[in-house]
Parts: sequence; structure tokens; C-alpha cells
Amino acid sequence: MRTQLDELKTHALADIANAQDTAALRDVEVACLGRKGKLTGVLRGISSLPAEQRPLAGKLANEVKKALEAAIEARRVTLKDREQQALLRDEEFDITAPGQKPLVGHLHPVTQVQYHVEDVFRSMGFYVLDYPEVETDYYNFEALNIPKDHPARDMQDTFWLTDGHLMRTHTSPGQIRAMEQFAPPFKAVFPGRCFRYETVDASHEHTFYQVEGLMIDEDISVAHLISSMKTLLTQIFERDMNVRLRPGYFPFVEPGFELDIRCLMCGGNGCSVCKRSGWVELMPCGLVHPNVLRFGKLDPAKWSGWAFGLGLSRMAMMKFGIDDIRLFLGGDLRFLTQF
Ligand code: FA5
Repeated sequence: MRTQLDELKTHALADIANAQDTAALRDVEVACLGRKGKLTGVLRGISSLPAEQRPLAGKLANEVKKALEAAIEARRVTLKDREQQALLRDEEFDITAPGQKPLVGHLHPVTQVQYHVEDVFRSMGFYVLDYPEVETDYYNFEALNIPKDHPARDMQDTFWLTDGHLMRTHTSPGQIRAMEQFAPPFKAVFPGRCFRYETVDASHEHTFYQVEGLMIDEDISVAHLISSMKTLLTQIFERDMNVRLRPGYFPFVEPGFELDIRCLMCGGNGCSVCKRSGWVELMPCGLVHPNVLRFGKLDPAKWSGWAFGLGLSRMAMMKFGIDDIRLFLGGDLRFLTQF
């Protein structure tokens, strides 16, 4: 028994000394002292020895057990310490090193101007509404007094879906939708994305933003229209704006106007944004055509209204001094982080 225990002890101590980490040490511990461990097996075997040999065998076995437990504990302390040192070395960080600032997003410049426009109109009691970008021919053209084969359709070519729907070319379809939705009198603006199949240049995009304005009441005149537009422009640009109103043709208004502002990029001297004219076409407008009121199920003998379609992307260009509309959708952070 003594020889067997001595041999077991020698092997176990060597295994303990060779264990290179706490996990390996735990394996050695289980192999010796675990339920099915070698020493446990020896201890169990003592009960089958002749009675006179048992006390001595028990004593020796217990001494070996204590010696192994002590050796394991000592080795565990060493290995744990070594592992902790390695962890500290690998995960070391310098709390005095300058941190990395997370990139904080912000509103797109066009959205900033859109929210500003919404605030101005909300303060005058207008609803702010949202209508579909995918439209039917009826709302985008037909109900706006632009029947099939009308030449005005050529001015607003667009992208068509295979099911006959189209990407709206302007926010004006909302005029009919609003008339269907609300009983007059009411006033509303509806901002949103528009799409056109046209050549892209410094002031034209295939995807851009407009805000439509609509006021329906009795006895509406051009004076109401001009007053709302002046309020808007003064508040957005925070200065007195140089504007001009000239006749403009849109089948859904009568009379129709183009409201231009003096180009803020060149101060009116002429540049690529204003196509060398000194003026930027910003806000076509007019009094709602009686046929459009009829399409909106309103009686033109009783109700009248004004409407405008503000080029929001262009307004943002003027406000921030951006000389190329293509920058808005270019996704270049060097540009976007300037606003
Ligand atoms: C219209 O879209 C009419 N629906 C506006 C309207 C509404 C008239 C209500 C009368 C009453 P127009 O195609 O001119 O009109 O576009 C209106 C404005 O949108 C333009 O003045 C311009 O500022 C902007 N715009 C038009 N096309 C583009 C484009 N491709 N890229 C950027 N802005 C555009």
C-alpha cells in the first residue's frame, strides 16, 4: 500500500507542477481527488483490507491526500496570478488617452428648411399633411385638369411603375386628396419628395422636394396668396426678399404665376444656378382652377382657393448658399456635416 501511495503521489505532484493553466490544474485535481480519481479509488479500497492494516493505510492515504491538496492549492495561486497578469497585459488601456468622439447625426439641410417652413405655416393655423409618393395618373394629372394627351404632361415626365402607378412629379396631387379629406374652409401645407425623368444639372434633380400650400375658403384672392408667401419668405430667409411675380401657366390654376426670388448665390449678377438670369424660379402659384375644385367635389360658385408649389430643395440652396443641387443626394459627409 505504501509503495502504491508513494508512486501515486510522485506522479500526481509531477502532473501538478506541469499544469500550465488553471483549467489543466483542475483536470489533474479531478484525476486524483475526484469521485473517480486515483486516490479516491485507493481510499475506497482500504475498507477491503484486513482490519489490522486499515488504520495505517488510512493514515498514509490521508497524508498523501493533504499533500496533494496543498500542492494543488499552491500551484493554483501561482497560475491564477500568472493568468491575471496576462489579462492585464492584453487588455491594458490608458484612461488618460483621448477618447474617440462618436459621430452624431443631424437633420439633412433640406429637412431643416422643411421643418422651418412647416413651423411658419403652423403658426398661421395651417395643417401639415403627408400624401403618397406613388400616385395614380388621376391624382397626379387628370384631377389637376391635365387630361391625357394634354401638352402640359410633357413638362413633367416621370418614372412609371409596371402596374400603371407613377412616382408623383409634384406635391399638387395632395390638393385633390386634401379637398376629399377636409370640409372647407381649411388651409394646409404638404411637403414631400417628387420625381422627374429629366436631365440633371446644377438646379435640376430627378428626385427633389417641394412643399405644396393650399387654402380653400370663400372669396379668396391673389392678395391672400401674396401675403402668405411674403410671410414665408421673410421668415425663412430672415431678411426682406427681392421677389417678382410674373404670369405662369399651370392647368390647375387660373390665373397662374411664377414667383421668382433674386438669386442669392450671385446677388442677381447671373450664375449657373439662376441660368445667368439673376432670378431663381422658386414658387409657382395661383388661384385654384374651378375644374380642380369640381374634381375635389367642391362647388366653384361657393368656394375658391389659392395654391402654391414651393421648390424646397432650391429654397435650401438659396438659404445655405449651395451652388449645386446634386450635392443634396450625393451622400458626401464632407458636404452634409457643414449644416
Ligand atoms: C409644379 O410642380 C407645380 N405643381 C407647382 C404649382 C403648385 C403651381 C400649385 C401652381 C399651383 P414646377 O414644375 O414649376 O411646378 O415646379 C415647382 C418648383 O419645384 C420649381 O419652381 C422648382 O423650384 C422646383 N423644381 C421643379 N423641378 C425641379 C427639379 N427637377 N429639381 C429641383 N427642383 C425642381
